Amino acid sequence: MDQVVKVGLIGFGTVGTGVVKILKDNADIIARRVGKKVVLDKIADLDITTDRGVTVPDEILTTNANDILNDHQIDIVVELIGGHEPAKRFILQALSSKKGVVTANKALLADHGEEVFEAAFKAQADLGFEASVGGGIPIIRSLTEGLAGNHLTSIMGIMNGTSNYILTRMTQEGRDFSDILEEATREGYAEADPSLDVEGIDAAHKLVIMMNLAYGTPVPMSAVYTEGIAKISTVDMTFAREMGFTIKLLGIAKCQNQIIEARVHPTLVPTESPIAQVHGVYNAIHLVGDAVEDIVLYGQGAGSMPTASAVVGDIIDLARNRIYESFSRVPATSFQWESRQPLPIKPMAEIESRYYLRCMVKDEPSVLSTISGILGKHGISISSVLQKERKQGQPVPLIILTHRSIERGVQSAIQAINTLSFISEPTTLIRMESVE
Ligand code: NDP
Ligand code: HSE
Repeated sequence: MDQVVKVGLIGFGTVGTGVVKILKDNADIIARRVGKKVVLDKIADLDITTDRGVTVPDEILTTNANDILNDHQIDIVVELIGGHEPAKRFILQALSSKKGVVTANKALLADHGEEVFEAAFKAQADLGFEASVGGGIPIIRSLTEGLAGNHLTSIMGIMNGTSNYILTRMTQEGRDFSDILEEATREGYAEADPSLDVEGIDAAHKLVIMMNLAYGTPVPMSAVYTEGIAKISTVDMTFAREMGFTIKLLGIAKCQNQIIEARVHPTLVPTESPIAQVHGVYNAIHLVGDAVEDIVLYGQGAGSMPTASAVVGDIIDLARNRIYESFSRVPATSFQWESRQPLPIKPMAEIESRYYLRCMVKDEPSVLSTISGILGKHGISISSVLQKERKQGQPVPLIILTHRSIERGVQSAIQAINTLSFISEPTTLIRMESVE
């Protein structure tokens, strides 16, 4: 083993730049924690001329990732380019050469995790992906190590910084969705394709990764019901607030009686609850374990430096393992590879939740009784109703909050309601949760 641990970075973008800054600025403390110097030996990016705001020697820059992958001196490869290809090829090549790999690529791990995890297992090589979920929050290590003695019954929370940033600004400033998305992109929070953020797909990627570790099972993306924030209007935000609720994009996974429930959707949460106080780019992930009971992990869920903090934590972990030659001591999947087993997924129609319904109605006699009759017929009990004053000739919103009901019944009731002659547009449905 050399006197230093050598790192090759592929991707000198938002997160890559943060990693370079930390490895440079905190080199001393990192060396004292690892026991050897951790040296950034090469950086590959398609563009090596743009000023990234951090000075690096020209000779370590290359446009060709193979200069890192084929360098036998490099111990740890950090993949920060994102997307499926060529990121997967780079990672598989690095693992097959027994290099340690660190990545923040949740899209890759959610869509092709089995291939990547199996490659790490077969090569007995280390794979660190702390930055793939929750930005700077150490959630992966909490699942694989700190909470490894628990049956984890529930994982719930805010898992996408960009959409929380957008919802927060919409709620606080009443501003337009698209302006705020542009701002989140400028801040470096959004994905290269921001539709992954606003359509809930990024949160679903993260939920899939966490379920894999928590439940010892690969969960396909297709098993996660996914709905984003694009259709959330300031009208619903205002009504929600009047009724004591705030709208957040939540990822929700539950495992009860060995059956998994997995969904991402906008959710009304009580305004006084801690989750409603999570603003801007912050994430909060609430876990329930049979021994530990409730735990909440909170911190910045995106952005250059918080995410780089998680990446560097992994580099340090892998560097320590290389020094002691104790690779794969903690399996990447948390469960030992041969102990993982598929679990059934509950269909969305069978989940139970409370619901916020906004019906746009012509203010006529018996509107409320007709709607409540349909809900009653489907076994849905109403918890409260709000109706606004009529404006001449305009449809009025009728807001109904339900008690806990089964999704199938609620969807059929909405179908029936939408056919009524006094309904002027399709009914809006937002699910409700109480997160302590
Ligand atoms: P960026 O787009 O800012 O950076 C990616 C960089 O990789 C770009 O400079 C890009 O160059 C370069 N690149 C692309 N393809 C290659 C290649 N074949 N060889 C060398 N360089 C290449 O992305 P981020 O830093 O924001 O994200 C990186 C990863 O981290 C993604 O997986 C993302 O999902 C994840 N992540 C990001 C977070 C964030 O807050 N930004 C938080 C958590 C995870 P070019 O621009 O010229 O294409
Ligand atoms: N685009 C992601 C987010 C980055 O906004 O949460 C962090 O994973």
